[in-house]
Amino acid sequence: MSTNRISARVAAIAESATLAVDAKAKALKAAGEPVIGFGAGEPDFPTPEPIVQAAIAAASDPKNHRYTPAGGLPELKEAVAAKTLRDSDYEVGAGQVLITNGGKHAVFNTMLTLLDPGDEVLLPAPYWTTYPEPIRLVDGVPVVIPTDETTGFRVTVDQLEAARTPRTKALVFVSPSNPTGAVYPEDEVRAIGEWAVANGVWVITDEIYEHLTYGDNLFSSMPALVPELRDTCVVLNGVAKTYAMTGWRVGWMIGPTDLIKAATNLQSHATSNVANVSQRAALAAVSGDLAAVEMMREAFDRRGKLMHKLLVGIDGVSCIEPQGAFYAFPNFTGVLGRDFGGVRPQTTLELAAVLLDQAKVAIVPGEAFDAPGYARLSFALGDDDLGEGIQRIADAVAAAG
Ligand SMILES: Cc1ncc(COP(=O)(O)O)c(C=O)c1O
Repeated sequence: MSTNRISARVAAIAESATLAVDAKAKALKAAGEPVIGFGAGEPDFPTPEPIVQAAIAAASDPKNHRYTPAGGLPELKEAVAAKTLRDSDYEVGAGQVLITNGGKHAVFNTMLTLLDPGDEVLLPAPYWTTYPEPIRLVDGVPVVIPTDETTGFRVTVDQLEAARTPRTKALVFVSPSNPTGAVYPEDEVRAIGEWAVANGVWVITDEIYEHLTYGDNLFSSMPALVPELRDTCVVLNGVAKTYAMTGWRVGWMIGPTDLIKAATNLQSHATSNVANVSQRAALAAVSGDLAAVEMMREAFDRRGKLMHKLLVGIDGVSCIEPQGAFYAFPNFTGVLGRDFGGVRPQTTLELAAVLLDQAKVAIVPGEAFDAPGYARLSFALGDDDLGEGIQRIADAVAAAG
C-alpha cells in the first residue's frame, strides 16, 4: 500500500508562479502595505456594461438555472464559430467548438485529449507557466526550445526542426505571447504552420491575446493561413483578456470534430457545462462589436509604450518594446549581483523578492517562464500605479549602485 498522502502525479505540480506573486501582492496590500503589483495577467477595466446586463438578465431566467449540454450552449458555440470567421478568417462549424471553464481549462482538455505517455510537445520558451503542467500530468514530455531577444523571442523553423523527433506530437504556439509580448509576423506564422503540416505535428495555437496588438504588429491565425493544418490544429481562446472577463471563466477550444467530441466526453465527467450565466455573458461579448475592446487596446498600447520607455531608462535593464498582449519582458541580468541594502540578488527570483521587500513592487521572475534573467511586468494596471511602480524599481536599482 502506498504511504504517499498525495499522488506523485499531483505532488509534482508546481503552484502557478504568476498567481502566487499576485496573491502575495494582494495579501500585502490587504495588510496595509503600499504594494504595486505588476504580476496580474488581467485587465484593470470592469467588464463592459452590455455584457454585464446580459448576465443579469440571464440570472433571472430559470432556463439558466439548470444543467445544459456539457460542451456549451449551442448558441454560444455558433457565436464562437462566427466570431472566429470574423476575427481570424478561419471557418469552423459549431461542432468544432467546446466551451470550457476559461482558457486554462481548454489547455488541460487539449493536452489530456491529445497526448499519450512519452509524446513530446515542443514548447518554445519563455512560455506561459501553465503549459508544461498538463503535459507532464499525462506523462507527456515538454521539449523546451529557448528563445531570446536576438530573435524577438520568436522560435524559428530551424529550431523546431532541430528539436523534432519521432515522438514529437505537437507544438504549442502563442502569438501574441504571454510572457514576452512578442507577435509573430504573418510569414513566420505561415512557415511554422507549413513545417507542422509537412511533419505531421499538431499545433496547439493559443489566440487569447488576438485583439491586443500594437503598431504594425498584427495578429494572424495559423490555421487560416495554412488550411491544410485544420485537421491537426487546436485553437485555444476565451473572453478573459479581450473583454476584461477574467473572473467569468469562459474559454473554448476549436479543433477537428473527433478531437472535440472526445474532449467533450472528458469534460462531461469533469465539470459538465460552464456556468450558464457566464456563458450568456460570453455570448453577448463575442456577438457584440469591438468598440470597448478597442478602447482598452488603446489604453494598453499607451501604457506599454510608457512602461517600455521607463524600463529602458534604468541603468542595467534592457527591454524590447511590447508588440502585443499586456506584458513587458525586460532583461535584468545587468542589475544582478548589485548591493540592494546588504542583499546581492544573484537571480531574478531573488531580485523579485528584494524588490517586493524593499520597493514594495511585485514582478514575476523569469524563472516562472523558464527564462531566468528576465521578469514579466504586466501593464494592465492604471497609469499612475504604473509610473510610480517603475520609479520605485528605478530608485532601488539606482541606490544599489
Ligand atoms: C497565453 C494564455 N492562454 C490562456 C490563458 C487563460 O486564461 P483564462 O483561463 O483566464 O481564460 C492565459 C491567462 O493568463 C494566457 O496568458
